[in-house]
Amino acid sequence: MKRVFRNIGELSTATGSAAIGGRSQGKLLILHNAWLLEEDGVIAAIGEGNAPEADESVDCFGMLVTPGLVDCHTHLVFGGWREHELAMKLQGKTYLEILAAGGGILSTVRETRKANEDALYEKTRKLFLEMLAHGTTAVEIKSGYGLDLETERKQLRVVKRLKDEFHDVAATFLGAHAFPEGMDHEAYVELLCNEMIPAIAEERLADFVDAFCDDGVFSAEQSERILNTGKRFGLVPKLHADEIREIGGTETAARVGAISCDHLSETGKEGIRALKDGGVIAVMLPATSFYLKKPYGNFRGMIDAGVPVAVATDMNPGSTPNLSLPFAMTAGCLYGLITPAEMLTAATLNGAAAIGMADRLGTLEAGKQADFVVWDAENLDQLIYRYGTNRAAAVFKRGVRVSG
Ligand code: NIG
Ligand code: FE
Repeated sequence: MKRVFRNIGELSTATGSAAIGGRSQGKLLILHNAWLLEEDGVIAAIGEGNAPEADESVDCFGMLVTPGLVDCHTHLVFGGWREHELAMKLQGKTYLEILAAGGGILSTVRETRKANEDALYEKTRKLFLEMLAHGTTAVEIKSGYGLDLETERKQLRVVKRLKDEFHDVAATFLGAHAFPEGMDHEAYVELLCNEMIPAIAEERLADFVDAFCDDGVFSAEQSERILNTGKRFGLVPKLHADEIREIGGTETAARVGAISCDHLSETGKEGIRALKDGGVIAVMLPATSFYLKKPYGNFRGMIDAGVPVAVATDMNPGSTPNLSLPFAMTAGCLYGLITPAEMLTAATLNGAAAIGMADRLGTLEAGKQADFVVWDAENLDQLIYRYGTNRAAAVFKRGVRVSG
């Protein structure tokens, strides 16, 4: 069955199937008075002017249409919430001080270990539907609130159920998110490499392996061992780096051939060069910088150096309990000093590339999946400018209206 979406005021999309680096990141295809023809969940054609004949015709009322957003970095499966940390934050306690006091990630670990798997699934599914309603049609989800095999498996089984139901959900094993309370650090790295990674990979519960490489958590050397082990077991490496301080994470990511290196709010010129030389996608997380009141990172320097930049929410109960990618996009434009055009590529095509889905997602081109959003906005600038309320009027996944 063919359906044509007509009367699109502005259709904005990146083009091409791989991550676009450098200044070309800002070059979008922009059509006015446009249409999009969809057949069996796939884009058949796009164009301007008179819409072609089809079995069904859908009026888009002059609104903006973009590809579905791709949130390539989230921690969506977790027990409890952490609103009680707000008071500590307001007293000036830092993220690491809260963690050292037994709060932070470790308090979510306690809650996640206790959580019933079905309840965890229902909670995650609800958050996922909220993300869909905000325009996100593909998502990456990390484990990392178990820090033991049983709970990490439980989190990843929840991700698998979501993947079976909604497609285009990537699973990342982040057992190296923190050290379990009372356990020797080296012993935990050994456990990760000798038992946890082999088991998770054998059960096919993850696509990617990740580690939190930073001050007070995993060293560059430990992270490298963990990512290389994951790689040996068929998992694609990603890395959390330079969120608090540069300790060699970007170089590690480049050396192991990571698909992406994420956070990067403290990354300097040498780190940017390492990402560029290693062909690593930089995943920036501006909503985290906002909530932690921390630097946003050198988005501009990365794009100018030719590093493909993606933007994600980092949705998690501690450092950023926000699931709106449009909010992160506005924050990233303002504080990362990049244009709405560069940002759209970051939140669609480059996000898809960061989770290995750019062959089918991230742009509106013939042959790609018909994942797109009709926004209550006249153009892309207006979407970025009118932040703070949800502007997604209708969300389509594989041609099916899933929200709005
Ligand atoms: O990406 N940086 C490490 N991990 C998460 C925070 C997780 C938490 O605080 O629960 C992040 O920001
Ligand atoms: Fe994260």
